[in-house]
Amino acid sequence: VLAETNVFNSGSKLVATLLQIHFGSCIVCVDPACSVRSFLNSLSDTTVVVCGDLRKEVKPDWVGDFKRLPFRDGQFDVGLFDPPFKRGVRQTEDYYTGRYGPAPNNENAATKQYMDGLPELFRVCARGVVAKIQDASDGHTFHDRRFQLTEFVKSRYGIGLHDVLILDSPSKVPQRRGPTRRFSRQTVSYFLVWKYEVRAGRYMQVRY
Ligand SMILES: C[S@@+](CC[C@H](N)C(=O)[O-])C[C@H]1O[C@@H](n2cnc3c(N)ncnc32)[C@H](O)[C@@H]1O
Repeated sequence: VLAETNVFNSGSKLVATLLQIHFGSCIVCVDPACSVRSFLNSLSDTTVVVCGDLRKEVKPDWVGDFKRLPFRDGQFDVGLFDPPFKRGVRQTEDYYTGRYGPAPNNENAATKQYMDGLPELFRVCARGVVAKIQDASDGHTFHDRRFQLTEFVKSRYGIGLHDVLILDSPSKVPQRRGPTRRFSRQTVSYFLVWKYEVRAGRYMQVRY
């Protein structure tokens, strides 16, 4: 049973609450796939977010690839990560790229984006990382990304998840009942929170 307090219907309110609860409001964050920054609309004035994206048209603070961040180890407090989701089968590359930038066209490739990007965020962030994910399906194959990425981080850094917040927009409920959605969890987003200290190069999970 999910605690109701963990479920939000606004991404920007979720992110603001999450940062406030877990990291406080006087922090410097990095968001290397920022797009139009819709998640950053409700932050407190003392939360600074340095934004990057591959697409210069969204006017990021720097243009670049989240797989190679131009920052020092531990330079930020918290990393926010929302890489592109899979391009839909009916969406041409041009259609998708115009709206969201380059995107993978299968779910294994979408998961790989997280596995390529998260290590850079763990490197440049001293206190924690937040990743927005959706579970997903390729045909009848369900990709439980929440568990895949939790295992990935655990095996690499030895730390488990600190918290999970859920974005479940009421406007998407009819889609989940429609004929093209086979899995009820498909349109729910999870915000996975890892919280740590780095001591002598080792990641230690923070439990408070
Ligand atoms: C799902 S959107 C992010 C939405 C954003 N969180 C918001 O609140 O509006 C993903 C973004 O990642 C960018 N992107 C894709 N591949 C990238 C890469 N390798 N490095 C940096 N940004 C990338 C895309 O251009 C797109 O703007």
